[in-house]
Amino acid sequence: MSGAESQKAEVREFWNRNVNQFNQLRREDVGSREFYDAAEALRYQYHYHLQPLFDKIAASYPEGKLLEVGCSMGNDTIQFARRGMKVSAIDLTPAAIDLIRLRFKLYGEQGDFRVADAENLPFDRDTFDVVYSFGVLHHTPDTAGAIEEIRRVLRPGGTAHIMLYNKRSLNCLAHKLTGIPFDGSRKDPCPVEKSYLPSSARRFFANYTDTRLSVDYLYGTGWGLLNRIIPTALHRGLGKVIGWHLMIEAVK
Ligand SMILES: C[S@@+](CC[C@H](N)C(=O)[O-])C[C@H]1O[C@@H](n2cnc3c(N)ncnc32)[C@H](O)[C@@H]1O
Repeated sequence: MSGAESQKAEVREFWNRNVNQFNQLRREDVGSREFYDAAEALRYQYHYHLQPLFDKIAASYPEGKLLEVGCSMGNDTIQFARRGMKVSAIDLTPAAIDLIRLRFKLYGEQGDFRVADAENLPFDRDTFDVVYSFGVLHHTPDTAGAIEEIRRVLRPGGTAHIMLYNKRSLNCLAHKLTGIPFDGSRKDPCPVEKSYLPSSARRFFANYTDTRLSVDYLYGTGWGLLNRIIPTALHRGLGKVIGWHLMIEAVK
């Protein structure tokens, strides 16, 4: 196995035992409506910038074909399905794909879900109107290769919406100073986690025809008390300057 392959196997094992949000939810509820509803409420309480993005994407491509890369348990995927889009989603981990399949069944939504690798997508070229990937591609060894794979499966004129961690952010500085990993814990850190300056992130999209990049989201749930005492307007305003999420929109 090559170095990159063994690193990817470690990434898969990490996310298989640490499904995103598992550390914030009641594990005894896993797979129930209570569990998925709690996951959804928590996610959009903090990720206030996402619902407007889902509205915009669904309005731009009514009933369009969307692929989510790195869907985890499907919080965002189901938002697109509820807005009438035809969704497919992949994740490296079987645990995530089991949870998203169960979720869609529970809520009566349709979708195509597969265990697959962002760096080698199991779809023909020119298949999707939209590819969405949030907080995933900085965890894969070949980030540039995955962004090219996304371009391959997008139809000409289709759009990629991708979030990568912003190196020039308050959150990155805090994690650097404290030595706490972005994902996982000091004892069990995520084996691959990168962050990018806006200029270097932009270079990944050199083969796309048009790329727009913005910054959002000052910091996450881990900031507990600060999240509650800083006024929302200040939180959002600072997020636009030194936020953790590089929000990239790139047209094929
Ligand atoms: C931080 S979680 C984000 C999940 C989801 N997008 C969200 O925002 O809740 C990262 C996810 O990326 C997946 N992942 C990492 N590398 C991947 C790869 N090469 N291909 C597919 N999925 C990958 C992991 O399995 C994990 O579910």
